[in-house]
Amino acid sequence: MRNADCTLCSTPGSMFVMPISVLDLAPVVPVVVIEDAGDAVPLARALVAGGLPAIEVTLRTPVALDAIRAIAGAVPGAVVGAGTVLTPEQVTECVAAGARFLVSPGWTDGLLTAMVASGVPFLPGVSTASEVVALLERGVREMKFFPAQAAGGTAYLKSLAGPLPQARFCPTGGIGPDNAPDYLALPNVGCVGGTWMIPADAVATRDWDRVESLARAAAGLRSVRDAGGTCR
Ligand code: 3PG
Repeated sequence: MRNADCTLCSTPGSMFVMPISVLDLAPVVPVVVIEDAGDAVPLARALVAGGLPAIEVTLRTPVALDAIRAIAGAVPGAVVGAGTVLTPEQVTECVAAGARFLVSPGWTDGLLTAMVASGVPFLPGVSTASEVVALLERGVREMKFFPAQAAGGTAYLKSLAGPLPQARFCPTGGIGPDNAPDYLALPNVGCVGGTWMIPADAVATRDWDRVESLARAAAGLRSVRDAGGTCR
């Protein structure tokens, strides 16, 4: 893990040290939607075995918090986080369930304040330059770029790197094995997120070997990222 020391973030009236950078945990963060809480542990084990320890469980199903709790308790190699975090209350619930990082598709001041107060690393979502500037103004330099492909893809991120080189991104949305290397080669991209290594049919048949193999291929993208940019 690079940059395991600190990312300093400040907000008006407060300052805290982000203990780890989500962007440096792994080149690819699987974005997981768990429908059956019983799938959480074997799915997480397959992802970790394939080399993807940072796992984002989205709050899009009623069992999401149970899934986070189960992975946190039973898969020691996993760094489980929560995605689609939309409210301050969800921040509290996710951290209580064992989430070690938080991701949102967008942000408000209330959500950001709760994320800062949570003490765990977080990636608020942005899709415009103004949103990036607003986060930088609040001392937050690491963010999710969502929906990556629909919002302009690699061309957009390249354009941001000129005026806003201090911002680093985890793009997600429309990313797969074909375009992930292009994103990871950008100097302002630390990792990418996506669902491609967790095909719905593999989950339906509980084909965890297939998930592990897809995760292993995704983890191999580390070399692209490590050969990449300079703003880390
Ligand atoms: C999400 O947060 O939903 C991610 O962007 C996943 O998008 P994908 O299914 O296009 O990988």
